[in-house]
Parts: sequence; C-alpha cells; structure tokens
Amino acid sequence: SDRPRVLSGIQPTAGSFHLGNYLGAVRQWVDLQETHDAFYMVVDLHAITVPQDPKVLRANTRLAAAQLLAAGLDPERCTLFVQSHVPEHAQLAWVMNCLTGFGEAGRMTQFKDKSAKQGAERASVGLFTYPILQVADILLYQAHEVPVGEDQRQHIELTRDLAERFNGRFGETFTVPRAYILKETAKIYDLQDPSAKMSKSSATPKGVISLLDEPKATAKKVKSAVTDTDTVIRYDVEHKPGVSNLLTIYSTLTGTGIEELEQKYDGKGYGALKTDLAEVVVDFVTPFRERTQQYLDDPETLDAILAKGAEKARVVAAETLAQTYDRMGF
Ligand code: ADP
Ligand code: NA
Repeated sequence: SDRPRVLSGIQPTAGSFHLGNYLGAVRQWVDLQETHDAFYMVVDLHAITVPQDPKVLRANTRLAAAQLLAAGLDPERCTLFVQSHVPEHAQLAWVMNCLTGFGEAGRMTQFKDKSAKQGAERASVGLFTYPILQVADILLYQAHEVPVGEDQRQHIELTRDLAERFNGRFGETFTVPRAYILKETAKIYDLQDPSAKMSKSSATPKGVISLLDEPKATAKKVKSAVTDTDTVIRYDVEHKPGVSNLLTIYSTLTGTGIEELEQKYDGKGYGALKTDLAEVVVDFVTPFRERTQQYLDDPETLDAILAKGAEKARVVAAETLAQTYDRMGF
C-alpha cells in the first residue's frame, strides 16, 4: 500500500468505552481506515503495568476488540490485533530499553502522575518503562503517523528521538513518526462536571455515557446533565460549558452544525434539547451495544478475527525486528 501508515492502541482495562473514547479517538480511527494503512491494537501488555486479574484481563481484551469492531473497524480495511499475540513488541521493547537513558525515561510526566497515584514504592518497573514499550509498538510497524490525544505528545517525541538515535548509530532502520493529534472538537466533558473530561475514572460516574448502558440509563444521564441557571441555548465553552458539551455531542453524533442546532432550539429551553439529545445518544448506543454483544456471544469468530489480524501484523513486525537484530549484531 502507498498510503501513509498509522498505528494506534487502546487499553483493555476500561471495560466499556465511554462516549469520549468513541468521539475523541475510535471514531477517528474508523475514518482513518479509508485514507491510511491502519494498524490498531488492544494493548494488553500495557495493561499489566498495574496489577491485573487474569480472567478480567482476558475478558476485557475481548471486550475492547468487540467494541472496536462494533464501532466500525473493519478487519478487511485495517489490521486489528492484540499486542501480546505479536511477541516482537516485547522483543523490540528490550532493545529500546537499552537505548533509553534512565534520566530520559524519568522525565516522562505520565509516569510521575500515575506512580504518584499508586504510591511511588508500589509502582512497577513496567509502569516506568511503559513509554518505551509504546515506542516499540510504533517503530515495529514503521508508522508514519500516530493518532493520539494531546497528552501523548511527549511519548511520540521519545519515539522520534529513539528512532533517530538508532538510525544514527546502526543505520537507517526506522521510520521517524509524527503525532497525528486527534481533533480537539471531539473532546467530550463529564455531564455532571463539565469542567472535567469525560473519563472512566470520573468522580461523578453519572456524568459518563457508557456505550454499553441500557437505553433507560443512557437517557437518564443525558436528561440529568448539569447545565446552568440561564435558559439560552448557545455554544459558549467558557460561560456555558454544560450546554456547549451537549451541543458538541449532538453535533458530532448527527453531523448537524452547532449554529443550526442553536437556531433549532432558539427559545425552547434545556428540557427540549436534552430530550432530543437523549434520543440521539440512545439511537447511537443501542446498535453499538447490540453489535458488541454479538461479537461477545460468538468468541470463536472474534478470536479468529484477532488471530488473522495478528498474522497480518506479524509479517511487518517480524521483518522490522529481523532488520533491527541484524544491525545490532545479533
Ligand atoms: P479515560 O480518560 O477514560 O481513562 P483513556 O485514557 O483510556 O480514557 O483514553 C483512550 C482514548 O480516548 C485516548 O485516545 C483519549 O485521548 C480518548 N479520550 C478519553 N477521554 C476522552 C474525552 N473525554 N474526550 C475525547 N477523547 C477522549
Ligand atoms: Na486517561
């Protein structure tokens, strides 16, 4: 393929995806299938950087894959696989570990945040080297672009540095990738606390639209979204963050422009907006949930799709690793 290659991964720890994951990331991955040579993976090796129950990990890995398929990833149009099915990730990660300075790894801000949450003494070395495994994930596929949120920019910089370092020391081997920063317009906020990003670790779970919720629960969450004491429906992130978030969700799920929505609800009040939006969200979530369930009910088909994906991925990964080993003197 002469299309630029993209590589992206999602953790299997989350259980169900929320609307922010979908609109902020997965939906854009679906679009990129059409324009890019796309590799997407469920990063189960990354998941064990914090304690994991094996049964839960296995179930969550299948669940994440089922949801990616339900969201529209098409194994005919992209390569969808599970990271641990391709042993070259761990093998290249070791090489990259040996190329990274201890201080350099220590400057990764995400480790500082995450280890602070766990207590620095309890954080694993795996959590510390997590970004280096990510480097290996990307370089293994010679990806040109890596679709990520703004918070991952530092890890992409590390990837570029290590690719250039290896190429400089051992000869041209790796494509130096660019961050493909996902569209900010798709940033979704918590329905109960619109100053915070919608997140699986939200302090206000009622503000998080899970894509596997039943219609009643979904509608209830939308209808009880926090707005403001005003009644005017206007997109104004600073002064009206709750209403603006609802308009963003409405607009991105239906393709209707924000201005058109402002006109449609002019003088109608928040109740009307929320009632209609509840229907829009339920109409999206319901088929998503049903498609996910179909994959979960048929684990043989799901596993076969993932096995085929891993086979496709390994063709590329094995070639890159063989070259790398050769250049290093193995
Ligand atoms: P969470 O914040 O719920 O823990 P993750 O960190 O697992 O979600 O994010 C998975 C992907 O979803 C990332 O690409 C991230 O940028 C995107 N994402 C997560 N939350 C949101 C959100 N509220 N709005 C837009 N994108 C989001
Ligand atoms: Na997060």
